[in-house]
Amino acid sequence: MTTSAPTQPPVPDVALLDGTAVPQLGLGVYKVDDEGARDAVATALAAGYRLVDTARLYGNEVGVGRALRESGIPREELHVTTKVWNDDQGRERTLRAFDASVARLDVGPPDLYLIHWPCAGRGLYVETWQTLVGLREDGRVRSIGVSNFQPAHLTRIIEDSGVVPVLNQVELHPYLQQRALREHHARLGVATQAWAPLGAGNGVLEDPVIVSVARRHRVTPAQVVLRWHLDLGTLAIPKSVTPGRIRENVDVFGFELTDEDYRLVAGLDRGERVGPDPDVLGA
Ligand SMILES: NC(=O)c1ccc[n+]([C@@H]2O[C@H](COP(=O)([O-])OP(=O)(O)OC[C@H]3O[C@@H](n4cnc5c(N)ncnc54)[C@H](OP(=O)(O)O)[C@@H]3O)[C@@H](O)[C@H]2O)c1
Repeated sequence: MTTSAPTQPPVPDVALLDGTAVPQLGLGVYKVDDEGARDAVATALAAGYRLVDTARLYGNEVGVGRALRESGIPREELHVTTKVWNDDQGRERTLRAFDASVARLDVGPPDLYLIHWPCAGRGLYVETWQTLVGLREDGRVRSIGVSNFQPAHLTRIIEDSGVVPVLNQVELHPYLQQRALREHHARLGVATQAWAPLGAGNGVLEDPVIVSVARRHRVTPAQVVLRWHLDLGTLAIPKSVTPGRIRENVDVFGFELTDEDYRLVAGLDRGERVGPDPDVLGA
């Protein structure tokens, strides 16, 4: 199957500190099986997405890779992120996990490889980061980064290796705006990528403030939240398996939020997580 030309304006690229660039908006595929991921990725590519975020944990690298190959879109226009899972940390296991992910994706080297969680209590994330640095030096992956890292975790890997991750993928939505972490990233030159950008069913999309801003702009609550992410400068990877929502979530370039909208959304921050606290998981 060849993907038809997208009808939406193209998603802007964000420059990363290793000289590469990634689309600011991509598709997440957590809790989707291989067949579902294949369909969702095919729909997304047809709608103009060029970045897909998967992980060994999600169990759908085969489906993601198949949709990327079947799209007919040149490989250099596509971006795929995958991640080393917690129980694969440590040099030997990480190398094996990386090879297995590459084989399942079957699209050549991944564009971005992330440590999924620091799991500081295991004491392996620094060694795992050194392993990712080696993979990058050997040209086996284009870019390397982390996920769910707190400032102290970032400091340790940077001091140990001298290599700064290109991005940190963290939970971020209007109820958890992560201002301090974003400012820390900005000082380091690390891009912030938001997981659960729509709040993963936590009520953000039904919040009266978001709903009223959406009504005023004649767009949907999800479009307001995604426009907010993009204007904040964060990268976002909303997940959907629903074709209409996949298209809706990339159709966010035809309106602008006002300063008053920003003030209203800023007021929604509650520091409220939907996922685990990175200082607690595997501590
Ligand atoms: N690094 C990490 O530790 C980590 C953790 C969690 C997630 N992630 C990544 O981040 C991605 C996104 O996070 P997430 O999946 O947890 O949450 P999310 O993207 O915030 O929310 C996904 C949920 O919102 C629904 N949805 C999507 N678009 C919608 C729309 N326009 N209107 C109404 N509802 C909509 C989806 O339903 P349908 O699918 O039924 O349409 C799904 O139930 C994941 O898929 C994964 O790639 C990373």
